[in-house]
Amino acid sequence: MTQPLLSLRSLSIRFGGLVAVDDVNFDLTPSHITCIIGPNGAGKSTLFNLITGIYRPTAGSVVLNGEDITGLPAHQVAAKGIARTFQSSRLFDDLSILDNVMIGMHARTKTGVLAALLRPRRSRRELDSCAEEAGHILQGLSNELYVRRYQPAGILPQADRRRLEVARALASKPKLILLDEPSSGMDDRDTADLVADIRRVMAENPGLSFLIIEHDMRLVAELPQDVIVIDYGKKIAQGKFAEVRLLPRVQQAYLGQKAVEDA
Ligand SMILES: Nc1ncnc2c1ncn2[C@@H]1O[C@H](COP(=O)(O)OP(=O)(O)OP(=O)(O)O)[C@@H](O)[C@H]1O
Ligand SMILES: [Mg+2]
Repeated sequence: MTQPLLSLRSLSIRFGGLVAVDDVNFDLTPSHITCIIGPNGAGKSTLFNLITGIYRPTAGSVVLNGEDITGLPAHQVAAKGIARTFQSSRLFDDLSILDNVMIGMHARTKTGVLAALLRPRRSRRELDSCAEEAGHILQGLSNELYVRRYQPAGILPQADRRRLEVARALASKPKLILLDEPSSGMDDRDTADLVADIRRVMAENPGLSFLIIEHDMRLVAELPQDVIVIDYGKKIAQGKFAEVRLLPRVQQAYLGQKAVEDA
């Protein structure tokens, strides 16, 4: 069996009396898309914060390619190959679209793109090659974003902001990209484009995996090879969406939220 890309082992975090993530175990394999679903407040984003070093777990471990990365600070986790987007958009609105992608390279460049942006002359050469590469990444995702690359990110509509965040995540050359509700604020067409974007990025980056928190069940039904269901911090099911959504405990978790039945 191939080594898992990421393993969560009995991962838990407690905030006072609340166990927000409770003894979660799963493995991700390379070149795979996995979706995480679950009701509001189930602990999905907290799980991402544990994987990416924003929170330190109360118990359990995070293992990346056989290496225990539990408790590493976020920038070190990023440098090891895990990139992410956040549930609420975190772009630098006043910086250009291109600069926003280049910031994603910060984790792996020598001088650091941030330093280079602040001290342009000292790091000119590295900056130039980063700009070229960032342009390439943008072009791969959307020619329109590429054409507009010198415009400020703040002018972009929601769907393009999400796309730009994916570009920024890609810029760190990650092995795993975590997307937290990437389709929020998107209409049907944008969501279909997002699915196409993810498929294309997968095809162009052998070995790259995605872990995607998603509330849009149509997207979940269409995209992933595997679905993990979280409820009250616990993993309550894992498998193919078509099977998982029929499980009584999953239906129960979504009681009052018609999402799984409708998909
Ligand atoms: N830093 C924190 N301190 C205290 N409680 C927290 C903290 N972060 C998250 N929580 C709590 O943990 C639980 C899980 O929150 P989380 O944001 O992970 O849910 P979620 O599944 O992402 O929900 P949603 O679908 O609404 O985004 C919630 O009850 C939340 O209030
Ligand atoms: Mg969340």
